[in-house]
Amino acid sequence: MPAILLTGGAGYIASHTAICLLEAGFEVLALDNFSNSQPQALERVAQICGRSIPFVQADIRDEAALEHVFNTHQISAVVHFAGLKAVGESTEKPLEYYDNNVAGTVTLCRVMARHGVKQLVFSSSATVYGDAQKMPICEDAPRSATNPYGQSKLMLEYILADLQASDPQWRIAVLRYFNPVGAHPSGLIGENPNGIPNNLMPFISQVAVGKRAKLSVFGDDYATPDGTGVRDYIHVMDLADGHVKALQYLQQQAGLVAVNLGTGQGYSVLQMVKAFSEINQVAVPYQIVARRPGDIGTCYADARLALQLFGWKAERDLADMVRDAWRWQQQNPDGYCS
Ligand code: NAD
Ligand code: UD1
Repeated sequence: MPAILLTGGAGYIASHTAICLLEAGFEVLALDNFSNSQPQALERVAQICGRSIPFVQADIRDEAALEHVFNTHQISAVVHFAGLKAVGESTEKPLEYYDNNVAGTVTLCRVMARHGVKQLVFSSSATVYGDAQKMPICEDAPRSATNPYGQSKLMLEYILADLQASDPQWRIAVLRYFNPVGAHPSGLIGENPNGIPNNLMPFISQVAVGKRAKLSVFGDDYATPDGTGVRDYIHVMDLADGHVKALQYLQQQAGLVAVNLGTGQGYSVLQMVKAFSEINQVAVPYQIVARRPGDIGTCYADARLALQLFGWKAERDLADMVRDAWRWQQQNPDGYCS
């Protein structure tokens, strides 16, 4: 049976998606250069699924290596997660971001086309909506970017649309993730940030486990109910399931679709802190500090298109998100090295 190639396969979202794909009866092949992940993640996926996960160590910018992968494996579709994702770093190293994300994806698509593999699910981000004026955010909202990371996602959305327009055999699902959090309920895999976490949930988890003294809440003067930033947090297992549904959709439908993957529900930073500490019965000390430059006040999805096209909606609630994030953190205080 041909496999689904998962680029960035050892990463946070891909490792959870691998489980959902296997459970849905797909074969998977993971490819990663391990620039932001460890092979242990795939070993843990194998442990959860009770079978080994074939993987290739390669870089998506390495055309010869990709050629070899497509020559030696039967691949029916690609779910393309590989990329760099740290906003702050992208402003310091724009060329690395454009090379990895944009050039890497162009190389990948070129090799796919040569091998007649024209089904692609692409990891985009709500960041392509910039500072959206209207909530909830619909897929046809204006797009913009304020940093090289966001710009790379926006460029890729345009590149993929041009590619599909040039050759209608391409079937492409651009998935715009809102804020993925949480972990597999086993606590065996989860988000494993290098160094100081940029994102809220891993920071809260590290404060709760005692690795960091307190959370800095970036601003309490936004136009939100409690003044702190509001986001659409989505459980990573729901997000993973969205990829399965997107692939099943592409098996039926040609063309390109761009679809939000969010819950449609926004929570503030303080609501997240409260939920985490109350549900997990653990203290999360915090202090209010200045806004983080480049942050927006509110961002949540209109999630209706995913339901309409894919028959998908998020099933897990905030309690599941904070419980599963905490289980992963407690069982693996030092990530996969624990
Ligand atoms: P991650 O860093 O855990 O996973 C990305 C994986 O890609 C890593 O395993 C990394 O080693 C690999 N990789 C990077 N460059 C590569 C290259 N050139 N060749 C091969 N492998 C490479 O990140 P994630 O959170 O799982 O994100 C997956 C995708 O989803 C990314 O494209 C990211 O931009 C996008 N996304 C993530 C979020 C989020 O909050 N996590 C939100 C929106 C979009
Ligand atoms: C970040 C990225 C965005 C990416 C998204 C999903 C930035 C500027 N933006 O956005 O491009 O698409 O993640 O991966 O990095 N917060 C705190 N203290 C912290 C961390 C965060 O108060 O230590 C607040 C933020 O101000 C925000 C909320 O928590 O209001 C969520 O932050 P974060 O997890 O970084 O996600 P985004 O800001 O949505």
